[in-house]
Amino acid sequence: MKHLQDLPSWRELWKHFDATKGLHMREMFEQDPERAQRYWLEVGGITLDYSKNRITDETLELLFKLAREAGLPERIKQMFHGEKINETENRAALHIALRNRTNSPIEVDGEDVMPKVNHVLHRMGEFAHEVRSGEWLGYTNQVITDVVNIGIGGSDLGPLMMCTALKPFGHPRLRMHFVSNVDGSQLRDVLEKVHPETTLFIIASKTFTTQETLTNALTAREWFLKHAGEEAAIAKHFAAVSTNIKAVSEFGIDTANMFEFWDWVGGRYSLWSAIGLPIMLFLGEENFIEMLNGAHLMDQHFANAPLEQNMPVLLALIGIWYINYYGGGSHVIAPYDQHLHRLPKFIQQLDMESNGKQVTLDGQPVAHETAPIIWGETGINGQHAFFQLLHQGTHITPIDLIASLEKRSNLPGHHEILLANVFAQAEAFMRGKTPEEARAELTAQGLAAEEAEALVPHKTFSGNRPSNIILMTKINPRNMGSLIALYEHKTFVQGVVWGINSFDQWGVELGKQLAKTILNELTGKTAVQPHDSSTERLIRLYRNTNCSKTEGC
Ligand code: F6P
Repeated sequence: MKHLQDLPSWRELWKHFDATKGLHMREMFEQDPERAQRYWLEVGGITLDYSKNRITDETLELLFKLAREAGLPERIKQMFHGEKINETENRAALHIALRNRTNSPIEVDGEDVMPKVNHVLHRMGEFAHEVRSGEWLGYTNQVITDVVNIGIGGSDLGPLMMCTALKPFGHPRLRMHFVSNVDGSQLRDVLEKVHPETTLFIIASKTFTTQETLTNALTAREWFLKHAGEEAAIAKHFAAVSTNIKAVSEFGIDTANMFEFWDWVGGRYSLWSAIGLPIMLFLGEENFIEMLNGAHLMDQHFANAPLEQNMPVLLALIGIWYINYYGGGSHVIAPYDQHLHRLPKFIQQLDMESNGKQVTLDGQPVAHETAPIIWGETGINGQHAFFQLLHQGTHITPIDLIASLEKRSNLPGHHEILLANVFAQAEAFMRGKTPEEARAELTAQGLAAEEAEALVPHKTFSGNRPSNIILMTKINPRNMGSLIALYEHKTFVQGVVWGINSFDQWGVELGKQLAKTILNELTGKTAVQPHDSSTERLIRLYRNTNCSKTEGC
């Protein structure tokens, strides 16, 4: 396979970088009044303004050339045709099939996956209807009021993020709870709030082997049985979402209450599958389908639009420009919307678990950076916390500012303040403030020349700091579907250009393996084995602290 550093465009981009790195966006805007109009794209309900980036037409041309030389158009086709692009696990990556609203056949190993996708979607719809309408009754014939999703990683973050984002669309009777942490305090806090007679537990795990999820699920089951008494009641209060039918039935959940998905759905790409059951319960089938429609719209755009007008491709390539050439090692996701406060965490898993890789598809060490560190927070809160570093720190940190055009509440004045801040931050990142401007401001405030001069360096902003503005016409199921699909495809494009596999996650395994051994040592099941001196000392400290309370110690 061809490596990135061997591609002609990779070297041309380095030359171009050297020639343009001194350019300031301020001048680019001054010289080109059409810049915003040209670096602007709308897809469905999503508008991307990418004009405040350190790019010129030539930068973009070279980046598109890079994508072509890296084989992006072919790779997109392979993904959409169900080819096994997740090579280390010998699997397709077919989240697009889950929202394939045209229902055109997509084959894996010669079998069209659409009938089973539609079948599970239909079953989810029926189940959601029963729970929402109140037809589904608990073991004492009461309606369900609380849904507790027990899952972690992709089996938690997507449903939690969507239910939070789309709260105004939620069923008024249903309270949604999410338990992911094996620290018992999270489950205990939820169990204190809910009642066994009116609670539905969804055990969500692709593998149904994840230690944290199974431990929480067993504790929830014990808690439930303590109240309900008989095992027969479980069928009314426990559902499972998994690819592993055998493990689900061994756990004791009736497989009639199991919603299946398949190994070609990656955990972090699974909210469109049965993993989205909490979303469907909360929002209803129609809204869930709308979310799928929105994602499908972005899929169609991604598959068919030329690279030059392709939103996921643009976001990905501009990201690569900073990561690989400017050495920008992190990327901020800043939603200007309280209900989107879970979005940075969701995108963090999506991007970092997908592209946090150090070898190419052929097992060779990469000769360049891969995924940046994704972090973030609601933008308005970030402004009063970490934005200082973004404006005047020493790192180049690109940021996505995400907001809704439609007002999110009818409280007068709030939305305008929010949006004014989005636009002002992006302008400030781009323009900065020159020493002359700072000096003039200080002098106008009446400071003596010497005093003003001492402050000028502190009040100067270099500017030229990149941002993307992503505006949604409104935050609704359809636009959320499009937004998440946009980030999924952005991640995929970056993975393709870097020549890595975005769909495996071997890096999470080592810690899991070691934890199994250490758990036995902590509980006294096995003697403490030789470790490094630090690990051994920590294990002994824990045992000394808890021995009298721990069985077998
Ligand atoms: O450990 C990482 C991971 O495998 C993620 O990729 C996944 O989303 C999460 O754990 C949960 O896995 P499962 O759904 O199989 O419980």
